[in-house]
Parts: sequence; structure tokens; C-alpha cells
Amino acid sequence: MNVLTVALAERSYPILIGPGLLEDAALLSRHVPAGDVLLVSNTTVAPLYAGRLKQGLGDRRIVEAILPDGESYKTMDTFTRLLDVPMANRLARDCVVVALGGGVVGDMAGFAAACYQRGVTFVQVPTTLLAQVDSSVGGKTGVNHPGGKNMIGAFHQPVAVIADTDTLSTLPPRELRAGLAEVIKYGLIHDAAFFDWLEVNIDHLLAGNAAALTHAIRRSCEIKAAIVGRDERESGERALLNLGHTFGHAIESAAGYGTWLHGEAVGAGMLMAAGMSRELGNLSDADLARVRALLHRANLPLSAPGISPSTALEYMKMDKKVQSGRIRLVLMKRIGQAYVTPDYPAAALQATLEAYFG
Ligand code: NAD
Ligand code: GLY
Repeated sequence: MNVLTVALAERSYPILIGPGLLEDAALLSRHVPAGDVLLVSNTTVAPLYAGRLKQGLGDRRIVEAILPDGESYKTMDTFTRLLDVPMANRLARDCVVVALGGGVVGDMAGFAAACYQRGVTFVQVPTTLLAQVDSSVGGKTGVNHPGGKNMIGAFHQPVAVIADTDTLSTLPPRELRAGLAEVIKYGLIHDAAFFDWLEVNIDHLLAGNAAALTHAIRRSCEIKAAIVGRDERESGERALLNLGHTFGHAIESAAGYGTWLHGEAVGAGMLMAAGMSRELGNLSDADLARVRALLHRANLPLSAPGISPSTALEYMKMDKKVQSGRIRLVLMKRIGQAYVTPDYPAAALQATLEAYFG
């Protein structure tokens, strides 16, 4: 098992990565604090893994909230129904919310943990690649609003992230590819050597090779944990983790939540950010070609036909990184080095939107 730490002083917590963790009663009793459990999952993941996890959690009261599956259910309405469950079961403030599932379950369960009785303990048990490399780490929780992705939420850190890599064996290939987009993101923003490794190993990752996936999860979590440890509330560096997301969130919102997978939209969005960086003369042709080639080999979409540039721009204006009316973008200097800026010619953004949307 790999053990990493998100270092946040008294709120520091471990990320545990490895096979067989769901059944490891000793590990679960160490990392899921004693008390009643609100187990949050969905209609797809619960039948696969809730039984194993409940057995591992041992002899304690476990109340289940099983959500409908899908990004289109990541709403205030589902969230309200989720909170009805601990209320109806009179769970006290010392209960523990355990999120078993992908990023949708994790974001909603985390938000419920942030809000129920003004905040209760929370453990992430991510079961998608995307959740194991990104959404379960860092404490961003919330739901979508029809006007914009993840617009309603809270920062609420888990006390542990337990990533059982065995769960990836049942993940549909399209979901695996979506998770790889976030893995590629870490290479692009922070680690050129990891990007090189991804170029060599992308076929192993797509084939579900356990050793390759474990390495990718570990390196991704190392990078994310370090960034979150330095900038928990995204006052600076953490915004780099949003490479491709301003374009990507616009795609997800404009297409209707659930039409594009989050990782697919991020994949196309990262190519747009790289294309704009090239347009601005920052990124070389060779680096842009490498970004495109890796995303292509990962079978991720490379453009967003069917959404007009003007619609995309309207949604981009709702991004959480907008400051004083300026859309701040994450752009690239080279593979392994990204930066955040509100300063770019409007014409460069317009040219990018016209090249990839419509
Ligand atoms: P998801 O949660 O919708 O899961 C994808 C699909 O896989 C779902 O149908 C799910 O039921 C199914 N599934 C999950 N685990 C499975 C398994 N082991 N076997 C078979 N099927 C399984 O999507 P996701 O890609 O995990 O997460 C995307 C969400 O995460 C988006 O809402 C995005 O905004 C959010 N996100 C949040 C953060 C953050 O920092 N909080 C970061 C990135 C993404
Ligand atoms: N996924 C972006 C972040 O956690 O900040």
C-alpha cells in the first residue's frame, strides 16, 4: 500500500492507495473514526462495493443514502434528499460520512458532511480513476447549478482518502479514459518527466494495467497533495489544477450535465488551453503536438462541435476564477509548466474558441 499525506497542520490526513483496502477491517477501523456511519453511494457503485465496505467497517450502525447515478443528479435537489437521510435516522454530530463512489458521490457527500449540523467528519472512498487521482483529495465539495458547474459548495477536508485500486477493474473504459485526462493534467502543469512517462505507458494505462495505474494514481496524488498543502483555498497556485477546466466546465454546462463526462471536457479543454498558449507564442509547436497526440491516444475528444463559440464564452464568464469581470485562464509555458493569467488579448481567446467550438 502507498501512503501519502495532505499536510494541513491539525487537519492533515492520509491518502491510502492499494488493492484490497475495502475489506481491510483493521485499516478501516484505524482511518474511519468510531461512530455511526452515513454511507453515501449510488445505484451503480453500492451493489458492487457497499457490501464489502460494510463488512470491513464492522459492527457499528451504518445508515445508507443511495443516490441516483449521474452528473445530472449533482443538484441541490438530490443534496436536500441526501440530508433527509441523517435527519430521518437522527444521526448525531459525531457521525462519519463515508463517500463510496466517483467524484459525483464524493462531491455531494462531502458537501453534506460540510453542512449537516454545521460540519461532521468525512472519509472519501473513491472508486473511479478520476476520483482516485483528483476529486477525493483536497476538500472541494459541492453541486452544480443550471447556470454553472460546481457553483454551490464548500471546502471541507476528509480525514482520510482510501483508494482501493481493485475497484477500477469494474470501471467502464470510457470512465477510465476520462480519469486519464486528469492524470495527464498533472504532467502538463507540474511534471514534464511524468508526462514523458505517460507517453510511454498510455497503452498500459488504457489496458487497465494495475502497476501502471497505481504509479499514475500515486504521482497524481503526490502532486495534488503538495499543491493543496501550500494553497488549500485556491488563493494562488491551486488554480493551476484547473488547467482546461474553464473551457471544460463551459462544455459540460452548455451540452447539459452528463452529456460529456467531466474528464472528457477537461481533456478537450486542456487542448484548447494549449492551443491558446501556442496562439500567444508561449508554447512551442512541438509541445502542442505532443499534448494533442497524447490526448488523442487516450481517446479523448479534441474539440467541442455543436457548441457555438459565443455560448462557450457566456458559460466561461460564470467560471469561479473570474475576477473583476476578467476570465482568468490557466495557460502553459511548456509541458510541465503552467500559469494563471487574466491578461491576454481578447482576440486570442476568440480565435481559440473559433478553432475548437462550433
Ligand atoms: P462519476 O462520479 O459520475 O462516476 C462515473 C461513473 O462511474 C458513474 O456512472 C459511477 O456510478 C460509475 N462508477 C464509479 N465507480 C465505479 C466502479 N468502480 N465500477 C463501475 N462503475 C463505477 O464521475 P467521476 O468522473 O468520478 O467524477 C466527476 C465529478 O467529479 C464531476 O462532478 C466533477 O465536477 C467532480 N470533480 C471534483 C473535483 C474536486 O476537487 N472535488 C475534482 C475533479 C472532478
Ligand atoms: N480539481 C481542482 C482542485 O481540486 O482544485
